[in-house]
Amino acid sequence: MNYDRTFNFSAGPAMMPEAVLEEIRDEMMNYRGSGMCVMEMSHRSAVYQQIIDEAEQDLRDLMGIPDNYKVLFIQGGATLQFSMIPMNLMKNGKAVYIETGAWSKKAIAEAKKVGEVTVISSKDKNYTYIPDCSDLDIPEDADYVYICENETIHGTTWQTLPNTKGKILVADQSSMFLSKPCNVSDYGLIYAGVQKNVGPAGMVVVIIREDLIRDDLDNLPVYLQYKTHADAGSMYNTPNCWAIYCCGKVFKYLKKLGGLDAVNQMNIDKAKILYDFLDESKMFSGTVDKDVRSLMNVPFVTASKELDAEVVAATKKAGFDNLKGHKSVGGLRASIYNAMPKEGVEALVAFLKKFEAEYK
Ligand SMILES: Cc1ncc(COP(=O)(O)O)c(C=O)c1O
Repeated sequence: MNYDRTFNFSAGPAMMPEAVLEEIRDEMMNYRGSGMCVMEMSHRSAVYQQIIDEAEQDLRDLMGIPDNYKVLFIQGGATLQFSMIPMNLMKNGKAVYIETGAWSKKAIAEAKKVGEVTVISSKDKNYTYIPDCSDLDIPEDADYVYICENETIHGTTWQTLPNTKGKILVADQSSMFLSKPCNVSDYGLIYAGVQKNVGPAGMVVVIIREDLIRDDLDNLPVYLQYKTHADAGSMYNTPNCWAIYCCGKVFKYLKKLGGLDAVNQMNIDKAKILYDFLDESKMFSGTVDKDVRSLMNVPFVTASKELDAEVVAATKKAGFDNLKGHKSVGGLRASIYNAMPKEGVEALVAFLKKFEAEYK
């Protein structure tokens, strides 16, 4: 690593590609002859309009977003979407939520304030698997089916999307956004907080099919209506200019890497190094079913909490950061998003192997 930087395994905010950080550094004092930093720039200026337009277009190119979907940059993080989704999409006041961990649980709590929610859950086994959703009992008048496509805390990911029987699919992609190709047409709405795989915290990207944007929600506070953001090109008020700028850089960077197929292959190769080690180790083991393992968030444990803590402390001392597991799961968690270099995973595995070999 350059600049004395650390391999940072944080679940988010997380590592950014070094090349992107360097570009941002180079443009910091005077963005392309504008005489100012992007932080100082009016969002109504022509130069900023180009930044946001390019960010949207590059994201559209990367994901192959069809023309009948809007791309919105909204503040309030992914958490605000837990509320905005039911407020905007529950026409009949009914939805089906698949509870695969802490994040969908939070979304369910908010949806229940708006309407009737049918819950299918993997809570019985501490969210270590994804429920079989090939033949769900979906109410005829349900407005949508909701999933968290990658569970950041528990480390599971959907391999096959649920059979929604024609209902709209809504997905929280926060911790796997742009980690692999995505067929946007399979979804009615995709959203992702950007601070894991894309950029700085404080913004969510919402990709929504146009016909789901309602114009009959006058009683809903204006900021909570998707229509407000769609009509104003994500500039109803001052947007998170800085996050949009940084995300735009990452979109360009991913395009240059070869697009999402290439990114996916890199992620598969990277995660395999860690999972192969966990499968061979006598000291460490993964915590979820192998067929739903996340390529982004890898939780693992030893045989005791004391030893877990000892390993976390040792990794920190050795220069690795943020490997402590989430408090609800314990153990360790390595978040290895797009920007974590392969060398980071190799170095961590080498360290864990040595720790195990030398442990008495
Ligand atoms: C899957 C998932 N959804 C939602 C959130 C909440 O994101 P935010 O902090 O941007 O509101 C997180 C945060 O870690 C997450 O991992």
